[in-house]
Amino acid sequence: MKSEQDTVNPAVLDAIEPFPQPVDDPAWLITVEGFDHRREKDYESWFTVANGRLGTRGSLEELTSHSSPATYVAGVYATPEEAALVPEVPELIAGPDWARLEFHLGGERANLERGDLLELRRVLDLRHGILFRTWRHRLPSGAGMTFRSARFASLADRAILVLMAELESEHPARLTTHIPLTYTTLYERLEMEQQSGWVNINLQGRKGGRASFAISSEAREGRLDRIVAVSRGPDERNASDVLSAARRKGAGSLMEEHCRAWTTRWGDSDVVIGGDPETQRAMRFALYHLMSSGDPESDLASIGARGLTGPGYRGHVFWDTDVFVVPFYIFTDPTVARALLAYRYRTLPEAKKKAAQFGYRGALYPWESADTGQEVTPPYVSLNDGTRIPVLTALQQHHISADVAWATYLYWRVTGDDTFLEEMGAEILLETARFWASRVTLGPDGRYHIHGIMGPDEYHSNVSDNAYTNALARWNLERALEVLDVLHELNEESSRRLAERLKLRKSEIQHWRAVANGLFDGFDPDTLLYEQFAGFFDLEDLRAVDVAPRPFAGELAVGITRLPLCQVTKQSDVLMLAHMLPDAVSPAAAHANYRYYEPRSSHGSSLSPAIHASVAARTNDLASALDYFRMAAGFDLGGRIGIAADGVHLATMGGLWQAAVMGFGGLQAESEGVRIDPRLPSEWDRLAFSIRWRGARLGIEVEGKSLSLNVEAQTGVALGGQPLRLLGPGSYEARREENGWGSLQKTGAG
Ligand code: BGC
Repeated sequence: MKSEQDTVNPAVLDAIEPFPQPVDDPAWLITVEGFDHRREKDYESWFTVANGRLGTRGSLEELTSHSSPATYVAGVYATPEEAALVPEVPELIAGPDWARLEFHLGGERANLERGDLLELRRVLDLRHGILFRTWRHRLPSGAGMTFRSARFASLADRAILVLMAELESEHPARLTTHIPLTYTTLYERLEMEQQSGWVNINLQGRKGGRASFAISSEAREGRLDRIVAVSRGPDERNASDVLSAARRKGAGSLMEEHCRAWTTRWGDSDVVIGGDPETQRAMRFALYHLMSSGDPESDLASIGARGLTGPGYRGHVFWDTDVFVVPFYIFTDPTVARALLAYRYRTLPEAKKKAAQFGYRGALYPWESADTGQEVTPPYVSLNDGTRIPVLTALQQHHISADVAWATYLYWRVTGDDTFLEEMGAEILLETARFWASRVTLGPDGRYHIHGIMGPDEYHSNVSDNAYTNALARWNLERALEVLDVLHELNEESSRRLAERLKLRKSEIQHWRAVANGLFDGFDPDTLLYEQFAGFFDLEDLRAVDVAPRPFAGELAVGITRLPLCQVTKQSDVLMLAHMLPDAVSPAAAHANYRYYEPRSSHGSSLSPAIHASVAARTNDLASALDYFRMAAGFDLGGRIGIAADGVHLATMGGLWQAAVMGFGGLQAESEGVRIDPRLPSEWDRLAFSIRWRGARLGIEVEGKSLSLNVEAQTGVALGGQPLRLLGPGSYEARREENGWGSLQKTGAG
């Protein structure tokens, strides 16, 4: 199905204004020259322009046989019918391919794969969130052309997408603006209506959501401006109204507003790494994708494992979001973090149903979640011969409930948003605590245990007492008890009403305390080691580092029979604990566990390297920390063909931010303020970032041995092991001495 709109005849151009250009600073640019069909899908993912609601892959406008274009609308899923090898599971649907163009020169269609490619350059301007392209080509007939485009997903108005294009040729040329609809198998209903100047496309996904696209193209003197407005239904602004207003503004003004919005976001979110340009650029690439993924205005959707950059994991939401991505937002743009947690609150009823379905109380969040919050993990994967292998993650990775609770509590602690706690957060913490209290078993040893579980390390299933799960479950119970006291103090009446609504009795609360105190966690105070799960140390002591160069997939390198019987792990598991609960795992214990578990991890999951970097930095193993940081930074951007084809890895990116800020920056949120203890690897001469604490901005910069702080409003700050001090607005400095940080001196007024 195609919608043919207008055509543009550029002929010889006399452009009215110069075509927009990317910034002139390589630290803010990701550039790809030429065409490599093997990597095209990776580049399409890298070059996605997105704003948390809409995301368009960076496919070439005219497409090649290697392109896989897609535009995703966050939260809009459809469920394809069960097929031979595919279970019936919802997936994020791709909307109309709005950025599509066709080039005709003297009756000949221009195609990158025919004729002479003279220049193809794609530049992602990270600073402004714009993808630029220049394409010079000589067609088989000899006709030459130069095409330029710039596109963005507006950060100033998340309902809008824009493409600006320019075509120059000395030959008669025509730019045809087809909008093909190629994904119709997922659409239950599709309506298309041509209006003067634009086309409206309404689509409804099978057993899923809907979206309306209003698309207009305006041509003038060799230029084409395409503006698109999208709506997800009656609760959002009508797409046609948004489009009319946007067209009145024009693409140029939309671009200006968009650039201003990005500049503001970077002001709060940039991480400056001095002395390591490659890593700096990769850090900004990660920040670009993180910022492109969040939408503060809606709880309809959360962030999938690949954001809006590709079809990977069907657009499903994992713990990746709560543990890896949400902390970035908590500290840099809390409104987005609140929206992501509001999504978990909106889907709490489904989490309660899932717990009840398995005979538990409280809330058991789905391992994979989509629009409704029901469990959407595929129940099996099919091998080519038709054999179905059951997928156990949804049945056993119960740590997801504690992960959601962890993000909820961190948000409240850092922002001090008591309204959120009263309206949503407390209920999440209480219902997840309630789940753990029903999930444990009292053993003959008088301790509580958790059986039949899978920790983050997916190579070992159906284990008992996964240390990560047990320690976080205990933490979840303790925080629920704390929050009950906090609520009581904040508002006695509403806390009583909540307890009544949740039918929370004194006896149940006492039971929570008993479980928290008696929960076994596998920690050995002599060795300082946590045993990953009961019996892990008795498994064959095969170390990943001795198997193959890392990262590697354990299934292939070790074999599926041997894998569960040996100590090779897929990803950080015990080390997640050291990273997430720095109060509970001392630096000495973190160090001991790092030494034990690091050589055993295959890093078969992209979630692993950044956490290793963070824990290594915190325990002062800076060389190893930098190696892992670079491994994480190079995950999508490195040379592995196809690694990002299905989308970039958002959790790796969030992990990278955490490794920079919590690992090298040594940032830790305490109840009354932040503790910071920066340590830089010798290759870096500077690290600068800012965070928000209780609404106020705190700028942190380390250069060599000196640390400077910029405090916007009164903030509690502790350096290294020093006690917390309340700092008023102004600038401060301290120097690192032999035994740690010297005291902070005020150097400027606020
Ligand atoms: C990892 C999980 C992760 C998922 C989605 C898996 O390979 O083991 O921890 O949640 O990918 O990124």
